[in-house]
Amino acid sequence: TAKINVAIDGPAGAGKSTVARKVAETLGYIYVDTGAMYRTVTLKALREGADLDDAKALAGLAERTDIRLVPEPGGQKVIMDGEDVTEPIRTKEVTSFVSKVAAVPDIRNVLVRLQRDIADRRGVVMDGRDIGTNVLPDAEVKVFMTASVRIRAERRWLELKEKDPEATVEGLMEAIAARDKSDSERATSPLKQADDAVLLDTSHLTADEAAERIVRLCRQAL
Ligand code: C5P
Repeated sequence: TAKINVAIDGPAGAGKSTVARKVAETLGYIYVDTGAMYRTVTLKALREGADLDDAKALAGLAERTDIRLVPEPGGQKVIMDGEDVTEPIRTKEVTSFVSKVAAVPDIRNVLVRLQRDIADRRGVVMDGRDIGTNVLPDAEVKVFMTASVRIRAERRWLELKEKDPEATVEGLMEAIAARDKSDSERATSPLKQADDAVLLDTSHLTADEAAERIVRLCRQAL
């Protein structure tokens, strides 16, 4: 049977990755977390002590980085130049710098090319910020997932509280709002709902409910 592409965009913490993974699992598709790619380049830049204001140097660094997303049960492993960086790309430090790195147009060019290659044979569920608007404008199903900042921060806090006892909902609200702001206001491919995307507010939905709605949209499009 024919396969379609599914684009899921939205702000930080809306539940995109959890939901996208469930949708991919249900359809037997490949899940592609594009945020992980921007995080990987950010991790490398921080490790190499790269100047985050030097766009040329950052783009070169992105070109030289081998990024692989390896699907595994219940998630995906991220491999950078042969090293498993699944955990290190989720640190607070990477999270606080990633929006700055992701705003560099040449970095986006490198990663978008990689994303389009992966989606070429269709059958992918891809999540990010600019998938429906820029990476896969011809995706058959496009969803823009949101939730209030407070609810997104509360979800993050539940995930984080064991690892980071210092985390507070208020602190996370601030960090999330700051990231949303820079992702929405950047010049290149800002976070924005595509004209033909379906808005899905997950504030009062479980991940299973949200996934179910998206799967239904996919079955209609198939
Ligand atoms: O999805 P996640 O929160 O892991 O993404 C981390 C950051 O990567 C985002 O805040 C954004 O700056 C950047 N990003 C992007 N375009 C995408 C995916 C992520 O600019 N398609």
